[in-house]
Amino acid sequence: MGPASTVQTDEAAGTPAAEGRAAARHVAIIMDGNGRWAAARGLPRVAGHRAGVQAVRRAIETASKLGVEWLTLYAFSSENWRRPITEVLDLTGLLRHFLKSEIAELKAEGVRLRFIGDRARFERDIQFDLGAAERDTAHNTRLNLVIALSYGARAEIVTAARAAAAAIAAGTLDPADLDEDRFATFLSTTGIPDPDLIIRTSGEQRLSNFLLWQCAYAELVFLDLLWPDFGPEAFSAALAEFARRERRFGARLG
Ligand code: IPE
Ligand code: IPE
Ligand code: MG
Repeated sequence: MGPASTVQTDEAAGTPAAEGRAAARHVAIIMDGNGRWAAARGLPRVAGHRAGVQAVRRAIETASKLGVEWLTLYAFSSENWRRPITEVLDLTGLLRHFLKSEIAELKAEGVRLRFIGDRARFERDIQFDLGAAERDTAHNTRLNLVIALSYGARAEIVTAARAAAAAIAAGTLDPADLDEDRFATFLSTTGIPDPDLIIRTSGEQRLSNFLLWQCAYAELVFLDLLWPDFGPEAFSAALAEFARRERRFGARLG
């Protein structure tokens, strides 16, 4: 059952507001709570991150099955570099392993990969594998998967402002032409539709520097479960919650 049928089974279906509702085309997830999941089991944090990778696999599979077109996963923030070096090494190690072990399968499943964030902060071999994964999956169309790595929204906006300023200084951009759409072309998400739905696990209710520009009108769903426990039921429940929301974009309805 895809998100469109979830909307149809919505109690309010048939009302003018419900008719205007669309399925979530782009879902972005703040995958939080790995450390708490491990602590609750008396395990080291890295065990939580490992279980988190399994949840990533499930989320990609579920998104594909439910007909989500775009899935963005917040895997590592620019602030996460401030964690103890041992944890940073565990996380980059898992990323390295994921790139080596998963890309062939994702490619076969029709997933197109794209990475946003400051990849220059990763070691060379990881940077190489990120580029290779993007190139190898560039023709896939079943699911667009965006993984945010060393990503911070404020840094992204500053980088975009700098690029726009450089274009103005070079005489290739007239300041009068720099509107919202034009500015968005300087962001790392250029060409990607804005997220319709942001899901955050772990019970925290904040964005933690994730897609601040792009989330202007996203619906936010906060789930009380920890990321390693996120499965198809939780994903479907979040989509069902989205389908019950009435999006207005500032306009008066009716
Ligand atoms: C999310 O889990 C993974 C990353 C941020 C890399 P956390 O590691 O933040 O887990 P908690 O929030 O400490 O439980
Ligand atoms: C947000 O989680 C970043 C990712 C999920 C990658 P954090 O655990 O880093 O966020 P805070 O510190 O609780 O805000
Ligand atoms: Mg956390």
